[in-house]
Amino acid sequence: MCVCVWIAERWYDLLTFFFFPVNAHVVAAASGHTVVLVDQSDEILKKSTKGIEESLKRVTKKKFADKPEAGAEFIEKTLKNLTTSTDAVAVVHSTDLVIEAIVENQEIKSELFKRLDKFAPEHTIFTSNTSSLQITQLANSTTRQDRFGGLHFFNPVPMMKLVEVVKTPMTSQKTYESLMDFSKAVGKSPVSCKDTPGFIVNRLLVPYMMEAVRLFERGDASKEDIDVAMKLGAGYPMGPFELLDYVGLDTSKYIIDGWHAIEPNNPLFLPSPLLDKLVEEKKLGRKTGEGFYKYN
Ligand code: 3HC
Repeated sequence: MCVCVWIAERWYDLLTFFFFPVNAHVVAAASGHTVVLVDQSDEILKKSTKGIEESLKRVTKKKFADKPEAGAEFIEKTLKNLTTSTDAVAVVHSTDLVIEAIVENQEIKSELFKRLDKFAPEHTIFTSNTSSLQITQLANSTTRQDRFGGLHFFNPVPMMKLVEVVKTPMTSQKTYESLMDFSKAVGKSPVSCKDTPGFIVNRLLVPYMMEAVRLFERGDASKEDIDVAMKLGAGYPMGPFELLDYVGLDTSKYIIDGWHAIEPNNPLFLPSPLLDKLVEEKKLGRKTGEGFYKYN
């Protein structure tokens, strides 16, 4: 049985943390993997466990609509597969796969991987769930570049079937195949991508969302009409402003700022004054109760 650590320590933005990785843990634990969730403090882990239970109940309500007993059993089994820890180094000793989902900061991530690399068994594969940073650079902070790749999940993780498996020029075929197999084992449909900014989905989705913000900033259409237009005219489940609020405005800003730093002349990667202002005001979307829209 595969033992996974989902390193969430140093995740400064607790609410973002709840939004994304917790659901990913549920997916792995629910598929029979032994998962250890690592974070900075017991307090955060307690809140995370509560979030996991709530997410599980939500999934189970739909999945086992006619069989509440089977649903309760599923929740119990899943929670049995999940433990928590604040000591990443201690946990990594007995881990086959590390999935890191800490703050989107190259230095902090590299520092963590460098530390774990010293204590992880030889065969352990390291992955990052980063949306915006280069996997190659992270891999270079370790001595296991061939056992390093990207595993990129999508919000909301229990619902979205996709995982992007990112292969750097140093990722071995064996590692790549293990990551593809793991993704399938947690019930996802993996696609593979080179280590290019945004991989597949974000490379197309983020410029689209930023174009929507610019359309609104120019006063060409209201955000409500842009959202209606994309839902009814293009068949998207959410409009770009709804999706920005859902993903988190801070996350979106991290992504666009990172790309802008790499390619400052690319008009698709230009930062938006409106997005910057909302993030500055801590209006980060659904998780803070306000972003482009207000939430109860
Ligand atoms: N956890 C668990 N279950 C969830 C869930 C969650 N976070 N969200 C939805 N569900 C399940 C629940 O069973 C829910 O039923 P409930 O509300 O009664 O508990 C059921 O889904 C249906 O939920 P909705 O009524 O909200 O269903 P919708 O049909 O409106 O679908 C949606 C919701 C799947 C979020 C849909 O609107 C959608 O696909 N939106 C687009 C999402 C998207 O584009 N994601 C990608 C973002 S980009 C990204 O993540 C990359 C990153 O790097 C930035």
